[in-house]
Amino acid sequence: MSAIRPRRLRETRALRRLTAETVLDAAHLVLPMFVRENAASPVPIASMPGVVQHTLGSLADAVADAAVSGIGGVMLFGVPATRDARGSGAVDPEGILNLATRVAVTAAAGALVVQTDLCLDEFTDHGHCGVLDERGRVDNDATVEVYASMAQAQAQAGSEVLGLSGMMDGQVTAVRAALDGAGHPDVALLAYSAKYASSLYGPFRDAVESTLIGDRRSYQLDPGNRREGLREALLDLAEGADMVMVKPAGWYLDVLANVAAVSDVPVWAYQVSGEYAMVEATAGQGWIDRRRAIVESVRAIHRAGADVVLTYWARELAGWIRTGDIE
Ligand code: PBG
Repeated sequence: MSAIRPRRLRETRALRRLTAETVLDAAHLVLPMFVRENAASPVPIASMPGVVQHTLGSLADAVADAAVSGIGGVMLFGVPATRDARGSGAVDPEGILNLATRVAVTAAAGALVVQTDLCLDEFTDHGHCGVLDERGRVDNDATVEVYASMAQAQAQAGSEVLGLSGMMDGQVTAVRAALDGAGHPDVALLAYSAKYASSLYGPFRDAVESTLIGDRRSYQLDPGNRREGLREALLDLAEGADMVMVKPAGWYLDVLANVAAVSDVPVWAYQVSGEYAMVEATAGQGWIDRRRAIVESVRAIHRAGADVVLTYWARELAGWIRTGDIE
């Protein structure tokens, strides 16, 4: 009979609560939100049950509600009515994402952080995250120049954190310089440092009505590459990223743990649309307990080292955290 009994600390609910290593907190959850240009009413997204493309009006209401719920922030994505080869809607101050940012900043009233996705894929007619060269390849340096203008437009609209999700080399340096030069030294950069070319973005591409033909493997990471994920994070830290991210989250917890072990800035993880859809679909069949699966999936991401989790369940989780319904 052993005197060493780890089970002692699991005996009662109060002991388990006292000794829990990973504590969920609404302040460290961020809700991604979609806003559709010219939408008359919110549009449901078939592959993401419970998530909608907002109108500017429904966005305002949802952001105000998110602020009351105690979550830490919202991350905005725009769905423009028209697209072109250079993604002009992204740099237009009247483009849907920049309009939405103004609406969200007003609705948030300082209670949560308003953030924006800084990438061209929603705005280009070919669906790539950058502009193309004459051979049809994504042109790194030309793209980074557009990102710099896009960053200025987003900062001007009031975004406080720019999510650099395009995976172009040197994008953090270029965007930082552009913001500093335009009088926005306080706008923070969240680098999607280790963003993998994942099947799990499928539902998101429905959500933004992506026109992409082909794939993003010439700029997003190969799912098998762990060391390269760490390299990308170290480069972004050296370029002055204020925060770094690993994406997707659940299938990349090893990369997340590696990045968390070396990062001297907050580490984020994005629980992406496919992660959401898999749980919703399975729970919809009655094959797993929906609430427990959601709580466990987000807790696991925090356990692996994420300080902040971007998740489509942020608002719902905040409610469960408040009522203590997270066991
Ligand atoms: C690119 C971007 C994508 C996602 C977030 N930002 C799509 C992609 O890289 O294809 C995916 C997020 C999700 O799946 O929830 N702007």
